Amino acid sequence: MTAVTRVLQVSDCHLAADPDARYRDQSADRNLAALTPAVRAFAPDWLVLSGDLSEDASPASYARLIDWAVQFGSQVAWLPGNHDDRSVMEPLFTAAGFEAGPLVEPVGPGEGWQLVLLDSARVDDPAGRLSPDRLAPLSGVDPARPLGVFVHHQPLPVGAAWIDKVPLREPQAFWAAVETAGGADFVAFGHVHQRFRARYRGTRCLAAPSTAANSYPRTSRFTPGETTPMARGYLLADDGRWKSGLVGG
Ligand SMILES: [Fe+2]
Ligand SMILES: [Fe+2]
Repeated sequence: MTAVTRVLQVSDCHLAADPDARYRDQSADRNLAALTPAVRAFAPDWLVLSGDLSEDASPASYARLIDWAVQFGSQVAWLPGNHDDRSVMEPLFTAAGFEAGPLVEPVGPGEGWQLVLLDSARVDDPAGRLSPDRLAPLSGVDPARPLGVFVHHQPLPVGAAWIDKVPLREPQAFWAAVETAGGADFVAFGHVHQRFRARYRGTRCLAAPSTAANSYPRTSRFTPGETTPMARGYLLADDGRWKSGLVGG
């Protein structure tokens, strides 16, 4: 029988030091808490926290996110977004047993799916960039095994001007590295605060919406009213088959 790994991508929580702070006129803490029953129902083997976990990179915000994430008993992997500060989150997340990868092998070393976590975040820049050293984890993958890539910034336009202004810069270097790695089964990102899926150069590209505040898709300005919170689930079968869908709302 084929075993399936259940992965839930949780993104753009935007928690602040003050739990009562407003994010886009909503409560980031309450919206994250509202996702809890859907996460329990999904029963993830792995949570992948894909950046903008904090709004202000405060230790208090990361501590509350850890408290929320550990309740599910899942293994947890993470990567930073443009609102995060890796130097603040890394010691806290490491102490909590969370993994930064950059290569996560849910089935075990040398077997099954490979999930690569790339750090596209830069200090004082809302856009992302992957320098050669940040792309290096892709050169270590086994091209014969299935591959999923997680990164905060979108490596292709999502059709929404307000967030396409601050994408992954120089995406051609990213796509070249993916191709050299033998291609990816999917590329998963956050940052865009909306539902999105497309195929680019033959690769499935999927966004996880935010747990804090989402826009209706493909609008020129952030347009509130979309379902919030949401996350994105992945079912990854050992034989390489997979499927993905939105969770929550
Ligand atoms: Fe965000
Ligand atoms: Fe972001």
